[in-house]
Amino acid sequence: MNNTIKNILVTCAFPYANGKLHLGHILEQVQADIWVRYHRLRNRQVTFICADDAHGTAIFLHAKKLNIHPNELILVMKKQHQKVLSQFSISHDYYSTTDSKQNKKLCCHIYQTLKEKKLISKKIIPQLYDTSLQMFLSDRLVKGACPVCLIRDQFGDHCDSCGATYNGVELIQPQSILSNSQPVIKKSMHFFLELSKFSNFLKNWIHSGSLQVPVVNKVKEWLITGLKNWNISRDKPYFGFKIPGVIKKYFYVWWDAPIGYISCIQELSLISSNFSVDKFWKKDSNILLYHFIGKDIIYFHSLFWPAILEGIGYRKPTKIFAHGYLTINGSKLSKSKGMMISADHWLKYFDSDSLRYYFASKLSDSIDDIEMNLNDYLFKINSDIVNNIVNLASRNASFLKKYFSNKLSKVIVAPKLYQLYYDAIKEIEYFFENRNFQKIIKKIIYLSDIANQYISEEKPWLLIQNFQSRNHVHNICSMGINFFRILMIALKPIIPKITKKAEIFLNISLSWDDIQKPLLNHKINDFYSLYSRIQPEEITNFLKTLNS
Ligand code: MSP
Ligand code: ZN
Repeated sequence: MNNTIKNILVTCAFPYANGKLHLGHILEQVQADIWVRYHRLRNRQVTFICADDAHGTAIFLHAKKLNIHPNELILVMKKQHQKVLSQFSISHDYYSTTDSKQNKKLCCHIYQTLKEKKLISKKIIPQLYDTSLQMFLSDRLVKGACPVCLIRDQFGDHCDSCGATYNGVELIQPQSILSNSQPVIKKSMHFFLELSKFSNFLKNWIHSGSLQVPVVNKVKEWLITGLKNWNISRDKPYFGFKIPGVIKKYFYVWWDAPIGYISCIQELSLISSNFSVDKFWKKDSNILLYHFIGKDIIYFHSLFWPAILEGIGYRKPTKIFAHGYLTINGSKLSKSKGMMISADHWLKYFDSDSLRYYFASKLSDSIDDIEMNLNDYLFKINSDIVNNIVNLASRNASFLKKYFSNKLSKVIVAPKLYQLYYDAIKEIEYFFENRNFQKIIKKIIYLSDIANQYISEEKPWLLIQNFQSRNHVHNICSMGINFFRILMIALKPIIPKITKKAEIFLNISLSWDDIQKPLLNHKINDFYSLYSRIQPEEITNFLKTLNS
């Protein structure tokens, strides 16, 4: 990224307020947070926002089951979500919910604007209706056989088996998931964003460089099959914002969710004069906008969202960063398979930095799924963090304490090696920018290996026995600490808790700009445990809790 560009807005997709956050959510938040922390470390002005997605049928049903009002559920979930996100060191500047007053106003305003521009139309359409519950059934609330391949048990929007997309009313032998009854077809009037009118705009926009190559290819397929107008309304009973001027109609949750990205800025503008909707969202905004999302919501972000923005004359995302799905020990995160690991459950057994590190070691700019294997996690954390990186600090710190009162020497005794580190940092910068965290971890381990090898070859434990070599031991061990310091600077966005401890040990604040200035003649503190080894039993015990 060009260094003159300093102002960035980063978003994560808004988690639904109907349940706990799981490790899949954390994967996305960690990916974005590492990127955000890196840019902050490079002195760029970052605003990192997120919110709970408060609306939709699932939330309404969940609250009903708990016998509470959805508003109560939203409040409880927001608190829980924010707590666990902060435990994972996710450094949002602002966290909202999509049921805010500002969002309601904005959703209605954008709707009116698009209506006046004749970009929203009305149409009566047939829909599946559960007569026993007196409600229309959304795609997720109905199952039946796929109209294309006839495989049973498919949801009302697409077939998991053959990939076909269709309308719920096309399902063969549909069944209501809520009452198990057979729904009837009932007509109802709905509002549509006329996506087809944005076809030319979208065809150009997807090639603007905002999307990853595999995403462009996917979106191109959708454009070729033709853009259907998008139903943005839902019938009562629904939990959402009422559509102004009509009775018993609500905005579809996917209408108000992305508009929440704008409302967050509006809400921030009430708190700080650094923010205004115009500054962030008008067409001429010079603030860069990045959306981190999972691959399941590409359609919404790469077609609907830019179309809405275009319709109201707003700027478009600078980039949409899609990632793959997290799978654990080969399975999808699914409740039924016992592999739904909630974020708070994880924290009862393990810490947050180790997971951030592990995710970083797996993340790249690809949209392929990301497999988490718990034995691999244990191996990686113990061998990389404990045996390699932390070991580099501890082995040198012991000599510095015992013989040199914790004071680093005044010279750089291995300048070539220092230069190698310095050059590697330039590559690491490039990897951070491009979200190639996997390569950063590889590079860091390579560098740590080299530094440890250097110490092993110099053999300070032998040299120290000869009084005349003392000076040299001082220089070697100071070198080791300097290498450790550079690794900690590079890791600061990834493992903020461990690097915080390293700052105390090194008696400095780790800053990117200081990489070129070695730490000389500087007093450090006594070394203390920065991280403890994970024991195999901890993994076994944890796995037992999953399948029970
Ligand atoms: N509420 C919508 C997003 C609205 S954005 C204006 C939503 N919520 S979600 O809770 O289902 O997902 C939130 C984010 O987490 C999405 O980007 C989704 O892709 C991501 N993930 C959900 N499960 C995931 C995995 N198993 N693995 C990785 N990411 C996952 O979608
Ligand atoms: Zn099918």
